[in-house]
Amino acid sequence: MDTILVTGGCGFIGSNFIRHVLQEQLVAKLINVDLLTYAGNPANLADFEDDERYVFYRADIADEEAINEILSTHQVDVLLNFAAESHVDRSIVDPQAFVRTNLVGTSTLLNAARKQNVPRYIQISTDEVYGSLSFDDPAFTEQTALNPRNPYSAAKAGGDMLVLAHEHTFGINACVTRCSNNYGPYQFPEKLIPLMLLNAMDGKPLPVYGTGENIRDWIHVEDHCRGIAAVLQHGQTGRVYHFGGDCELQNIDVVRRIIEAAGASEEQITYVKDRPGHDMRYAMNFEETTKELGWTPRISFEEGLAATAQWYRDNQSWWKPIVSGDYLEWIEQWYGERKGAA
Ligand code: NAD
Ligand code: DAU
Repeated sequence: MDTILVTGGCGFIGSNFIRHVLQEQLVAKLINVDLLTYAGNPANLADFEDDERYVFYRADIADEEAINEILSTHQVDVLLNFAAESHVDRSIVDPQAFVRTNLVGTSTLLNAARKQNVPRYIQISTDEVYGSLSFDDPAFTEQTALNPRNPYSAAKAGGDMLVLAHEHTFGINACVTRCSNNYGPYQFPEKLIPLMLLNAMDGKPLPVYGTGENIRDWIHVEDHCRGIAAVLQHGQTGRVYHFGGDCELQNIDVVRRIIEAAGASEEQITYVKDRPGHDMRYAMNFEETTKELGWTPRISFEEGLAATAQWYRDNQSWWKPIVSGDYLEWIEQWYGERKGAA
């Protein structure tokens, strides 16, 4: 079994992926490298802190010296890059942070992985790199030209291209995964579903951007993580793997279903100013992935949303410190104690 290095493992998808591979015993050792930005929360992995297979480093993926040191300390078989600035609205306020992590950070990881002879690299990416579809366009395929339209997706597209260029130029073993909108446990409550769930439960306004007609394809994070694990086990170099939930919904429909799941009121819906450059529709064609890896999504939106609503109801001790902002102080204290003990 392999030693894998996961970056961004304290975030939403990274922490769900770590939980998946450790619970399923798919790896011998797992090194998590995370900067612990506002989106990285060690509480997401509290149950694995004492697991002998799990090692944590606080480091920036754009810091080549730090990455080189970690890679020279451990014999890593596969590096999976989940680390990113991930929220589109923030990228409109501060594009530079997105270029640094999503583009420069990816380049730094590739360079370090090549120098340290890491045998395989997997880049976790997004359907947003293809840009926006109109209502009757066919879904994105692996051959669709990249056409990112906001600073987040532009920086992710640049990162993907660097990965594929390194595969071509230097002959490293590398591939890219692209997925649609994830939801599920441990998602930071700035994204549509957890934000609306918490506001709905609390009787607060539900801010719908523009007309609410924009379409996203929703996939439960466990389905996505199972897909990435399949790539880890059977993925081929130079490939792009698509994952999707086969569940296209207008935002307003998602919000109405959340209202139902939370027992809230339609009167809480508040239409607000649209996101600048708001992409209209994303949709993923994942037939190639199914053919090659046998992967399909298993969790229906009804089932996944009900489970997610229940998770947020049951885990107030996770999200309350996030909503109040107290978690940032807790993280520094957690990290200080950990460093002190090392
Ligand atoms: P997230 O924002 O929840 O987590 C990002 C993690 O990366 C955090 O733990 C953060 O601390 C860490 N990080 C940020 N900058 C870093 C840096 N410079 N060095 C080291 N660590 C850093 O993001 P997410 O939603 O879990 O997304 C994970 C990956 O999946 C991203 O690459 C994203 O583009 C991709 N993706 C997300 C979705 C989605 O719906 N959330 C869909 C498809 C693809
Ligand atoms: O498609 C994959 C992408 O999905 C990932 O690459 C990104 O990391 C992830 O953040 C997500 O991007 P979106 O912009 O689609 O997700 P977000 O949850 O921010 O918004 C989903 C839709 O809901 C979008 O059309 C904007 C709208 N929205 C969002 C928020 C936060 C609202 O109407 N109101 C809101 O308050």
